[in-house]
Amino acid sequence: MKVLNESIIKARLSKLLKTRKMGKSIYVFNELDSTQDYANSLPKNESFHGTIVIARKQNIGKGRMGRNWISPEGGLWMSIILIPDFSVDNIIFTQFIGALAVADAIFENTKICCKLMWPNDVLINEKKVCGILIDVHVENETKKIVMGIGLNANIASSLINDYLTSHDLKATTLKEEYGNEVDLLFLVKSILERIEYYYDNFISCGNTSEIIDRWKEKSDMLGKKATVHDGNQMIVGHIFDIDQTGALLMKLSDTSIKKITYYDNVTLH
Ligand code: BTN
Repeated sequence: MKVLNESIIKARLSKLLKTRKMGKSIYVFNELDSTQDYANSLPKNESFHGTIVIARKQNIGKGRMGRNWISPEGGLWMSIILIPDFSVDNIIFTQFIGALAVADAIFENTKICCKLMWPNDVLINEKKVCGILIDVHVENETKKIVMGIGLNANIASSLINDYLTSHDLKATTLKEEYGNEVDLLFLVKSILERIEYYYDNFISCGNTSEIIDRWKEKSDMLGKKATVHDGNQMIVGHIFDIDQTGALLMKLSDTSIKKITYYDNVTLH
């Protein structure tokens, strides 16, 4: 997206997309504090299902657990609005489709096979290349989900070094792993097409077990030792499954089972 201005990016993307709803309304910015904040604050009459907000760089990118997200030019910083027509209980599964869609899109564009880490990190060679942030708004009968995708695409890993030192999980970039730059517009196209596929085929029909099975196939977390940070407490155990609510299940040394939800902070050993 480097040399193109916002309206050209918009026009090119609209032409490329073969989706029914994803990306039918597009906002593109050279620079924004956060695409997530922008999408969260769009009023109801501009928040259509499939609306996307993209920025070339973010000044105050937001990560999970209140962390910041370093977002220099060259990365793919995008938020997608979803207006679910299903129960709030299934909203949690949108985190899995985000990660699955990004992994599929990376494979389509680079032939690199990614692994997934709960709840929605995408890894290459055990390093994080993409994180997903889900914000949910429920007001009376109206629901709105904002899915933020932060994909370290065409950036030198030296630019995200701060991130590397402040987290347990190391970070990487697509450029570093692939050895080449990728076309961000093709990446956006693939991600949106895959989100639509998973969303329409599984989530809106309530077929969430299919999503969990696909996610498990791409994850290598099961069987691993992990720690959950619960306030000041650290709980250690072995991950053995994901239940039907999308929670991670961890067996503790006293054989009791700890349920780990989206809002918990978990690290693998
Ligand atoms: C994580 O912590 O793993 C999630 C990171 C999500 C970052 C993306 S970048 C696009 C969108 N805008 C933001 O401010 N955050 C999300």
